[in-house]
Amino acid sequence: MPMRHNPVFAGAFSRELWQQVSRRLLGKIIEEFAYERIFDVQKEKPSHYRIDIGGTAYRFKAKRYVFDNLSVDPDGIVMTKEGIDTPLHDPLAFCAEVLPELGVKPMTIAHFIKELGNTLVSDAHIAARATKTGAELAGQDDIRLEGETTGHPWVTVSKGRIGLGYSDYLAYTPENQTPTEVLWLAVSKDRASFIAEQDLTNEGLVRDAVGEARLEAFRATLADHGGSAATHHMMPVHPWQWDHMIVSHFAADIAAGHIVLLGYGDDQYLPQQSVRTLSNISHPEKSTLKLCMTILNTAVYRGIPGKRALTAAPLTTWLDELLGRDRFLSGECRLVLLGERAGMHYVHPQFSTIDGAPYQLNEMLGCLWRDSLAGHLKPGESGVPLAALLHAGTDGKPVAQALAEKAGISVPEWLALFFDIVIPPVFHLLAKHGLAFSAHGQNATLIVKDGRPERLALRDFIDDVILCDEEFPESASLPEEVRSVLLCLPADFLIHFIQTTLFICVFRYMSVLLDQRSGVSESAFWALARESVLRYQKRFPDMASRFSTFDLFGDEYPRLCLNRVRLFTHGYADDDERPVPDFQGMVDNPLVAFERHSDAA
Ligand SMILES: Nc1ncnc2c1ncn2[C@@H]1O[C@H](COP(=O)(O)OP(=O)(O)OP(=O)(O)O)[C@@H](O)[C@H]1O
Ligand SMILES: [Mg+2]
Repeated sequence: MPMRHNPVFAGAFSRELWQQVSRRLLGKIIEEFAYERIFDVQKEKPSHYRIDIGGTAYRFKAKRYVFDNLSVDPDGIVMTKEGIDTPLHDPLAFCAEVLPELGVKPMTIAHFIKELGNTLVSDAHIAARATKTGAELAGQDDIRLEGETTGHPWVTVSKGRIGLGYSDYLAYTPENQTPTEVLWLAVSKDRASFIAEQDLTNEGLVRDAVGEARLEAFRATLADHGGSAATHHMMPVHPWQWDHMIVSHFAADIAAGHIVLLGYGDDQYLPQQSVRTLSNISHPEKSTLKLCMTILNTAVYRGIPGKRALTAAPLTTWLDELLGRDRFLSGECRLVLLGERAGMHYVHPQFSTIDGAPYQLNEMLGCLWRDSLAGHLKPGESGVPLAALLHAGTDGKPVAQALAEKAGISVPEWLALFFDIVIPPVFHLLAKHGLAFSAHGQNATLIVKDGRPERLALRDFIDDVILCDEEFPESASLPEEVRSVLLCLPADFLIHFIQTTLFICVFRYMSVLLDQRSGVSESAFWALARESVLRYQKRFPDMASRFSTFDLFGDEYPRLCLNRVRLFTHGYADDDERPVPDFQGMVDNPLVAFERHSDAA
């Protein structure tokens, strides 16, 4: 609930901390803009680089890595203008100065700076709250670790969250770890649809979520409004969404009794990294709830498209069958798929009739019931979101190193196990079944036991799984209603879900961190990844033609860009379709680069 006096969290606004997080964000902007070729970087001498933009030079120290990515030393970025050197720390001022020179439209620059500002506020809160060592982080459960991460590692406006006010920020974002209750609505069957797996009912799911007594109270409230189970379904809604979107944009439906506010459930939830998906901390084994929050965060407004909400359950049923019949995935990998067991969508009476209306307006009221990780864990197991492996504790120790120490093995030994747990199932789903899962740091969770990598859990299916457009007999049984909703793309695009989503969006950052903090060189890191891929491929000699369709061993592959989408190709357009990634040149393939040039690093 919004607070009356809106006090700020003072720790986040100390001058010293502010400058420190500012410098880090400025360093990240230089790293990621250079990576995406948004500007050119010249090497002046070993470890010293320079960017020239509009008569101004920016100098910094950095180390260059295999994707031609830089790791910038944030303490010592200097601007030289008209012969005067000025130390630089403000990422907003830097963008205001350089983006016009790079041809970015003024409207885009202004909105980008707004998103950067929110990101920086968030970075300052994260830094001010950081107290845990690497070992302490490694000891947290998956739900708490979701709140210890720092957002998308590659997107510079990683925590833009346009739409959240400051009290919302404190109440609803993962890093603040403020427990929240979920609001429940009754929604008329004239407008709302509910589709679940067989044997699951709306009433049963609500009972599981809120308990019999609360359900009884909800039924009584609904009856007071003239409704019943015959006329209405019940659904969870994020309190922020109710307050900011539903009351005003669905007011007539509230007045007409199509939407009835039932009240809060009793269980407490914490937000996951995606902000809008909530984990139940009162009963961690209960479903997580993926809800709509019409905030613009990283790439898109975080709603749920109706077709997808209503196809989640049949896709889950089919994926569970696939898992059951694929003995490698279920028996050897013991892969966990966090099923999306039911979905709901409420049609907006006007926006839904406007062809070409912004997609955000048609995705405001819906939800998914998703398996929690806790419901799948065996005794002694715990979950570590891959995103947490990009981080170190306050003692500088990376979470991966702390896990290795807990397991009593070296970091390279731990990495070899890690790659064997993470790469084979994701690659197998692609090469064997033609299904690309988006295993980025927020969608994939490593399951460990005593620090040792054991298995992998994947989530986010109906929104993120993509089909290969070639014929895959293994996936022929996919129901047509599901096939027609999933995106279907060529093999050479889907290989990016390994090469970009996993290698560039997760491993790129892990390898830099482990090179700098744990003494694992980049070439050693990628050699272990390469060996893991080769071990997997050797295990399936009959899949040779699939491994050439999804070839992981070419010399180079296209450089996919995310920041460019915001700055150049999509900006802040309020379109009917979600933006698509951009490409710029090629990157060296780290699985072969070190073999070819042993001195590439
Ligand atoms: N390390 C990370 N990698 C990718 N995304 C991250 C990371 N940390 C935070 N995020 C956030 O998580 C979300 C990832 O997008 P994605 O589409 O997978 O999730 P979603 O569909 O909104 O929710 P969910 O994954 O809970 O179903 C974005 O909001 C992004 O900002
Ligand atoms: Mg996700």
